[in-house]
Amino acid sequence: MTGTPVDWKARAVALADRLTEQGAITDPAWRRVVETVPRHVFVPEFYSDGDPPELITARDARWLELAYSDDTLVTQRKEHPDQPGFSWSTSSSTRPGFMLRLLHLLDVGDGMDVLEIGTGTGYTAGLLCERLGSQHVSTVDIDPELTEAARRRLADAGYRPAVITGDGLLGDPVHAPFDRVLATVATESVPYAWVEQTRAGGVILADVRPRGMTRAGALARLTVTEQGTAGGPLIPATWGFMSTRREVDRPGIPETAPIDTSVVRTRTSPVGGAALRTPGLSLLIWQRLPGVTVFPRPDGAQIVTPDASWATVTTTAPATVEYGGPTDLWQQVEEAHAWWTAHGRPDVDAFDLTVTPDEQRIHYRTPDGDDRNR
Ligand SMILES: C[S@@+](CC[C@H](N)C(=O)[O-])C[C@H]1O[C@@H](n2cnc3c(N)ncnc32)[C@H](O)[C@@H]1O
Repeated sequence: MTGTPVDWKARAVALADRLTEQGAITDPAWRRVVETVPRHVFVPEFYSDGDPPELITARDARWLELAYSDDTLVTQRKEHPDQPGFSWSTSSSTRPGFMLRLLHLLDVGDGMDVLEIGTGTGYTAGLLCERLGSQHVSTVDIDPELTEAARRRLADAGYRPAVITGDGLLGDPVHAPFDRVLATVATESVPYAWVEQTRAGGVILADVRPRGMTRAGALARLTVTEQGTAGGPLIPATWGFMSTRREVDRPGIPETAPIDTSVVRTRTSPVGGAALRTPGLSLLIWQRLPGVTVFPRPDGAQIVTPDASWATVTTTAPATVEYGGPTDLWQQVEEAHAWWTAHGRPDVDAFDLTVTPDEQRIHYRTPDGDDRNR
């Protein structure tokens, strides 16, 4: 490796110490991995948190320290073609503490084959290669600029996993089956392709959240069955990954959707827009309104479904609701709220998720078994 700063090793060890103290590393095997993989190789430049964000490169005195910090480093930003002048994060190296917690949840063991969705900088793929050997690792990203750079950096650090350019929602059929699938980008549902590409008994760890409801999602830890379904608990995660991009040149932000404003109705509701940000409840809303997208408003939010139904609601109750289109969407939210209140306002971890070839469903876990009456 050329141009490697001489003091990176001590910083990598300090990072491993910090993650061990935090409880993010509990396994000596992962500690060795964090000490060994040179994160600075994967983040030659990244953006500061400032407004406007400033590009920090290796020439900056802060660069090396930040490269070994437990911070998410945003490495790519793009403008939405319809919103010039403002850029969104489209790739990053996720906070190592969070990644190590995910790797622990994923329960990666010797000899396993792992698929990562969202290559980004390549750092997580590097961690997996160091732990398992490059021949056991596949990683997919939609952006050819990123996969090319990640492949080069991984090689510089001594790793040669399969780095694939493509839509991660399709997985990696060429190198399947896998024992573990780790998504480092958020999806609205778990694509069935990931289930198909995982061996029975294998585990998928995915960050599932509806588009625009970034604080409403959860981590799903799903075990794949012999019957080709997957199921398991939802784990609270108010902080999540950026949403998948549908196209390389568009950030994964909610796209404006067509709405039917031919007739606009108005009413009040005992449920305010805050429901959309309430962990647990928001899962039920999402289940009742497949394909829902949420757009923040100065005092509330607008929800839109693919049939062009929409509702705009103020944040606090009693709320004012304007709505239109074929369905009264806010009524669905009120029904979800009534069920949630009657069941003691359960949090995310009271629910399981199952994925079959036909659907993704959320189940409430009661001491007596599932209660599907929602
Ligand atoms: C949070 S970053 C991943 C961080 C990465 N694991 C690392 O270690 O640096 C999310 C990545 O998902 C990628 N992504 C977004 N939409 C995608 C899609 N549809 N398919 C595959 N990758 C996608 C982005 O380009 C971005 O690089």
